Amino acid sequence: MDFKDSLRQKSALVEEYLSSCLAGLDMPAGLREAMNYSLLAGGKRLRPALCLSGAGLFGLTATAALPFAAALECIHSYSLIHDDLPAMDDDDLRRGKPSNHKQFGEATAILAGDGLLTDAFFFMASVGLPSGVRPELPAERTLRAIQAVALAAGSPGMVGGQYLDMLYTATPQMTLEQLRKMQAAKTGALIAVSLLSGAILAGADAEDLTRVENYGRCLGMAFQIVDDILDETGDEAALGKPVGSDASRGKITYPSLLGLEQSRLLAEEAGARALEHIRDFSGEEALFLRDLVEYVLQRSS
Ligand code: IPE
Ligand code: IPE
Ligand code: MG
Ligand code: MG
Ligand code: MG
Repeated sequence: MDFKDSLRQKSALVEEYLSSCLAGLDMPAGLREAMNYSLLAGGKRLRPALCLSGAGLFGLTATAALPFAAALECIHSYSLIHDDLPAMDDDDLRRGKPSNHKQFGEATAILAGDGLLTDAFFFMASVGLPSGVRPELPAERTLRAIQAVALAAGSPGMVGGQYLDMLYTATPQMTLEQLRKMQAAKTGALIAVSLLSGAILAGADAEDLTRVENYGRCLGMAFQIVDDILDETGDEAALGKPVGSDASRGKITYPSLLGLEQSRLLAEEAGARALEHIRDFSGEEALFLRDLVEYVLQRSS
């Protein structure tokens, strides 16, 4: 299967799972509507695809990893809802639609994010329980994978990175090293743990877990540099989010510090490092991960 077909297949599985994952939870209709509004608004589904790929790389079926993959997309979607809030990036467009707070108001948007984050942990914790999707998965793997996701999404990871993003906004003396660390936390950690959690569930050994995590961190770095470049050069209709948002808010980004050309070089270098980390892997998912680097570097949306 070529890269596009593999990505399409993974996304289709994830879409189907996401479309009904909130249905089993008893919650107010308005909250469900706001949560589904952002969760089911499309998006590239990169993080769940990575989770399924990490599972497949070490022989676990996509079906078994699916609740985890969906949970990662819930966490990512929550981060986008909160990222767009007036107190943060104050952006009105997301995934081609009015941002969650534009559609439902700030209070509901905050709660929709809270709901997606917390419910994600319910989905993950349900893997491996006797009533869960794959009771034969050792509970210890599930627990380790949940621990890794919590670290990557929480204050040592995405939340901490978002804090630094706010702290450094309009701080022109910010250094390249500070920028690298901030982006590694806000974006790299969740991207890396997406692949890592699938590999943990599949029972990969410590050495292979390090390889996939390092690949994920480098891919995450390339991904966020390209995100920053597209914020300057991209097309709003293709991106489904505003262009020029970073500059208008005084965000320090790779292009603002180094210019577009140097930023692109750094993204390509990060992509090359990602490939190095997985050079010993073979098979269909290894090919997918190799092609994914090029996809991330070339993307326009
Ligand atoms: C946007 O992520 C937020 C960043 C970490 C840059 P994506 O570009 O993956 O957004 P969707 O999921 O496709 O909407
Ligand atoms: C946000 O980075 C990363 C998150 C943790 C959501 P950005 O603020 O650059 O993401 P976009 O450009 O709004 O998607
Ligand atoms: Mg932001
Ligand atoms: Mg933003
Ligand atoms: Mg951005």
